[in-house]
Amino acid sequence: MAIRSIVTHPNELLTQKCKEVHAFDEKLGKLLDDMYDTMIASDGIGLAAPQVGEAIQVAIVDLGEGQEVIEMINPEVVEIGGLEVEVEGCLSFPDIYGEVERPFYVKVEAQDRDGSLYELEAEDYEARAILHEIDHLHGILFTSKIIRYVDMEELENEQEDEL
Ligand code: CO
Repeated sequence: MAIRSIVTHPNELLTQKCKEVHAFDEKLGKLLDDMYDTMIASDGIGLAAPQVGEAIQVAIVDLGEGQEVIEMINPEVVEIGGLEVEVEGCLSFPDIYGEVERPFYVKVEAQDRDGSLYELEAEDYEARAILHEIDHLHGILFTSKIIRYVDMEELENEQEDEL
């Protein structure tokens, strides 16, 4: 386990489509463990592999509400529903926060670290975090979706988890 350094904008790693994962090996497990340590050390609630320098389709989400960490390999959004506007941040954009409109509900198909296919449903901020991370795997950054920037002062009353 190790804390890796986070790739920040601008960096071409953040804007390219990540490669599909085919090898569900020890190296993948180590990457997931390192990503978790890195996310926790950075006070984040989600992290995508390109943010630690690996352009592959791996992302994690953990809202810190006592549930198991969500590990998504090769995730695909199969259903969405509703819409909600909330403030988001991103570990690759220190000090930038903004309102982003995203589906309230999402159903995702992904593989776990052993390669087993599973389905996941999420709502509200968990759905938002999952969709933010899946965007990273397609080189899509939340700044391209911000409808209103939010400054630090205003943020004190808002959620400020970073993804
Ligand atoms: Co992010």
